[in-house]
Amino acid sequence: MNLLAVIGLSYLIGSIPNGLLIGKGLTGVDIRQFGSKNIGATNAFRVLGPWPALAVFVSDMLKGVAGVYLGSWLVGTPLAQLLGGIAAIAGHNWSVFLGFKGGRGVSTGLGVIAMLVPKVTLIIFLVWGVIVFTTRYVSLGSVVGAALLPVLVWLFREQTEYLYFSIIAALFVIIRHKANIERLLKGTELKIKAGSMGNA
Ligand code: G3P
Repeated sequence: MNLLAVIGLSYLIGSIPNGLLIGKGLTGVDIRQFGSKNIGATNAFRVLGPWPALAVFVSDMLKGVAGVYLGSWLVGTPLAQLLGGIAAIAGHNWSVFLGFKGGRGVSTGLGVIAMLVPKVTLIIFLVWGVIVFTTRYVSLGSVVGAALLPVLVWLFREQTEYLYFSIIAALFVIIRHKANIERLLKGTELKIKAGSMGNA
């Protein structure tokens, strides 16, 4: 019963569309109408600028932290933490408040893995940073980072449950980047530039 509560509450928390709420609350702008039309921190950076984007990043990341924390608090097993984390990412990507549409799961996933596998998270964050800095394609950094997650969890010999979790989390992120991957292959992906309304 408690496990179901962890999954349900984490999914609901994950479903909160922070990017949409912050954009509308601060400037009246629906970020789903501009740039990549995504509700995440990257598109918030493009459309709203760095400070709103930071707020979206932190609040989305905290949803992942909350999922893992709920697992610890209500059940107290590693499995409950993992399911809470996965449910939060699923909520962000397929939000009940947005007709089961949503974001890419990167910031929320980062919150989850920072709680569970901090060393792996640090490496992924560094690789992501190098890719984004050199190419200015955030999506490329996110897809490579997601693909690296199960590989690093395996290399660091983390618990077997973590390996299964990391494969699911990576798939959740990569599946939601389908349109980005298609644009990357065509050479039409948006590069990152603050406040450009997504035109750069
Ligand atoms: O974290 C999301 C990022 O990887 C891609 O965002 O807005 O360019 O689709 P966006």
